[in-house]
Amino acid sequence: MRDLRQLVSHMTIQEKLAQLSQLSGEAWNGGKLMGIRYGVTLDPALVRMAGSLLGASGAKTVRDIQTEHLKTHRHGIPLLFMTDVIHGYRTIFPSPLGMACSFDPAMVRESARIAALEASVSGLQVTFSPMADLVRDARWGRVVESTGEDPWLNALYARAFVEGYQNAPLDAGGVLACCVKHFAGYGAAEAGRDYNTTEIGDYQLRDSYLPAYRAALDAGARMVMTAFNALNGVPCTGNRWLFTDLLRGEWGFDGVAITDCTAVYELVNHGFCADNADAAAATLNAGVDIEMVSDTFFTHGERLLAEGRITMEAVDSAVLRVLRLKDEMGLFDNPYGHADEASEAALHLCPAHRETARALARRSMVLLKNDGGTLPIRDGETFAVLGPYADSRHMLDIWHCEGREEECVSLAEALAGRDGVTVLPCCPVNADGTSPAVPDAALDALLVKAAACDKLVLALGEHPSMSAEAGSRACLDLPEPQMRLLRKACVLGKPVAVVVFSGRPLALTEAHGLAQALLQAWFPGTEGGNALADLLLGRASPSGRLTMSFPHSVGQLPLYYNHLPTGRPKHGRNDPERFRSRYIDAPNEPLYPFGYGLTYASFAYGGVTLSASVMAAGETITASASVTNTGTVAAIEVVQLYLRDMAGSYARPVRMLKGFDAVTLAAGETREVRFTVDADMLKYHTPTGYQAEAGGFIAFIGPDAATENGAVFTLLG
Ligand code: GLC
Repeated sequence: MRDLRQLVSHMTIQEKLAQLSQLSGEAWNGGKLMGIRYGVTLDPALVRMAGSLLGASGAKTVRDIQTEHLKTHRHGIPLLFMTDVIHGYRTIFPSPLGMACSFDPAMVRESARIAALEASVSGLQVTFSPMADLVRDARWGRVVESTGEDPWLNALYARAFVEGYQNAPLDAGGVLACCVKHFAGYGAAEAGRDYNTTEIGDYQLRDSYLPAYRAALDAGARMVMTAFNALNGVPCTGNRWLFTDLLRGEWGFDGVAITDCTAVYELVNHGFCADNADAAAATLNAGVDIEMVSDTFFTHGERLLAEGRITMEAVDSAVLRVLRLKDEMGLFDNPYGHADEASEAALHLCPAHRETARALARRSMVLLKNDGGTLPIRDGETFAVLGPYADSRHMLDIWHCEGREEECVSLAEALAGRDGVTVLPCCPVNADGTSPAVPDAALDALLVKAAACDKLVLALGEHPSMSAEAGSRACLDLPEPQMRLLRKACVLGKPVAVVVFSGRPLALTEAHGLAQALLQAWFPGTEGGNALADLLLGRASPSGRLTMSFPHSVGQLPLYYNHLPTGRPKHGRNDPERFRSRYIDAPNEPLYPFGYGLTYASFAYGGVTLSASVMAAGETITASASVTNTGTVAAIEVVQLYLRDMAGSYARPVRMLKGFDAVTLAAGETREVRFTVDADMLKYHTPTGYQAEAGGFIAFIGPDAATENGAVFTLLG
């Protein structure tokens, strides 16, 4: 075992401070700058001694950079290469918000394993994933990177991502060390505006926002990234309570903490620090180790030490954590990791990876409406495909790593072999969210051609740049030219199916009212067009279920299913109609609830049966319901278990997802689906602990969070 403490003791202050500095790959002309540039003019000494790089990858690039670096580093400490492998490296899978709708953690884990394999042969060691932020407001563009609004499901997926990336010892090939982000509570950005402040009470923080980060760490994630936001007035990057008291103290995490991109500089913008030197001290003293893409540690660290504003002990501890990670990844013995050009050529976008991406994209798409069996399009039926996504390859959200749009399959390309298809691209949408006006005459001319077909498919949506980081929107409507196209199409008297490509839940109320069928495609990845064609043509049935509520209107946000009841719930007991928690101009309920999704079959549920109506501490009960495929084709039904705790020391959510079972049922088949309810499902986090409390509960079993199919049981003290 290498004596890393001895190595630290031989390092100069500047060498230590450089080891805690992550530069943009651009510093070596080999990578891509991620994030905001604050006019950083890099000291060549820092470039020579830096500890890690952001965004540089590719077997040749990494080997060249590492070779140059090791020529000049006095101790031969290798660089660590990190970047955002969020949902694929070169073969790109659906955005995480789409993948989550598969309700298949095993498939998500496999996507992470493939991503790690492709990234590892391209010289990367660390990925800034999973993003474990709980989200409740679709105005926030980064919902696309999340797995949704449920803490328990987010924890399941965070664990799956880590297990997929870290599928073997870290020095093995095909592995990425995980950096869970953004710690903490970034998804609660006020008004859905990115980087905005967050106010999260201790109960909500612990019971809703923190569990998924904790699950990633319990699964072995080696790093944590600071969030940009201020949490209850204290910016996360300088938040000692968050990183030292909670993360390292209470949770016992002794891995590496890294700031987000230029977040140290931003402590001055927050009004939390007076200048960059103050920001460097606040970050190090909070318990954060690496500064990303800025140079305050290196520039001010020596003076801060001399002034006693930081301690050498803190610097040494941070350096030691970074060196330990490098050692665990085997970099001291093999500084090039598993970078290998031949393996890159063989693995990137290989058929097996593409097939997995296609299968996961199919599972990610959610059928929201299908009146009259409009979908699938039957053999022999002709159809027109209109809209911006008729032939677009914008299948990737902006966090697509080394994925390339030109390697994606568009819907038009996927349909090329199918007779009777008329492709009529129109109504383009730009990266800035604008859409050029389209004259009525132009739309009418297209629709004359489309009217000759049996059905119309309108492939509509956002541009990928309209969501993701800094992609906040105050309006969630589809672009107006697309809505004009839809309104005109729906008076032709032909069935209209709308496919929505977006990185977030949009307000689809008008589209829902106009179209006969509605399918949410998200940004489905490299194989998105093929996956969509598989569903449109009935080669597979949609099976996705929403992990984030879709609103009727943006005015309902934040909107989430697991909300507290309030003292005057809309469907309350005896309060007059007016005096209840409701809008006078909109429903409370979502347009489509959490857990919702249709298939090409239909399902009926029997009532919930409990093995007992009383559950003693330490015991379990079984909740079950029969599920019947009342349709004509086999399909996957995601049977969901929700619990409600009727009374607690804190007000409890009206529903909590606590289990699901994705069952494939043949037409006419009935199956008894059983869930074991144990005490752990009944526990919840409060500022004073994690416990279950005696009292009444309801177990619901159904197809989504709106189900009322339930049975009551009591937990004894
Ligand atoms: C970005 C993002 C973060 C990402 C980092 C490095 O600003 O906030 O999610 O990992 O920079 O690219």
